[in-house]
Amino acid sequence: MSTVKLNAAKSAAKLVPTTGALGLGSGSTVTFFAKELGKIVSTRNADIRVVPSSYQAYQLAIEHRIPLTNLDIDPILELTVDGADEVDKDLNLTKGGGGALLQEKVVASASKKVVIIVDESKLVDRLATRFEIPVEVLPFSLGVVKRKIAEMGILPKIREAQKKMGPVVTDNGNFILDLKFPEPITNPAKVAIDLKMIPGVVETGLFIGMTDEVHVGTEKGSYILKK
Ligand code: A5P
Repeated sequence: MSTVKLNAAKSAAKLVPTTGALGLGSGSTVTFFAKELGKIVSTRNADIRVVPSSYQAYQLAIEHRIPLTNLDIDPILELTVDGADEVDKDLNLTKGGGGALLQEKVVASASKKVVIIVDESKLVDRLATRFEIPVEVLPFSLGVVKRKIAEMGILPKIREAQKKMGPVVTDNGNFILDLKFPEPITNPAKVAIDLKMIPGVVETGLFIGMTDEVHVGTEKGSYILKK
């Protein structure tokens, strides 16, 4: 699996410009990309800086000596490279398996180009086929948000932390609900809007119409899916 992720990361690394601000996504595949980016910064002497999409991404940037910036200094990003949990035929995504969906979506929205790096197991016809849809929720609103989601016929489960008792607390101090749909989603854009309209839902892990390219790593290399 690490070869596959590395091949996806190397493919995306070819798109890194010589200068400019980039978004750095989160997740295990991005770990490989951050390493490649670190090499580009040191060897090509590229004038690159990144907005990290999570504490994990922040730490990756530090580890690989990639200069940091933020969205106040750089509200327009040349490119964001990020992972995904599922990618459908229209390149809509499910994200948030690592709990970082809110800042990831903000960073992607600031970007001229969004490139997603995955392995083939992430490719599905419809979202919510294999992966539940994460939703970031204001803790104060948890009870009412769960009730409203259940009324939509969707099963909400609070994400429990590992090695800590109680719920996962996101980088933004919120909780995550993982939503189990009765069947894969046919209209993800509508679902994303319906969920976002519930007061207390801070953001959803449905990334609709945001992706420009998906770089799919394989054991032997990689290929690119475009809109
Ligand atoms: C983080 O919350 C996620 O959105 C990740 O980008 C996504 O889960 C993909 O992660 P992996 O590359 O580890 O599969």
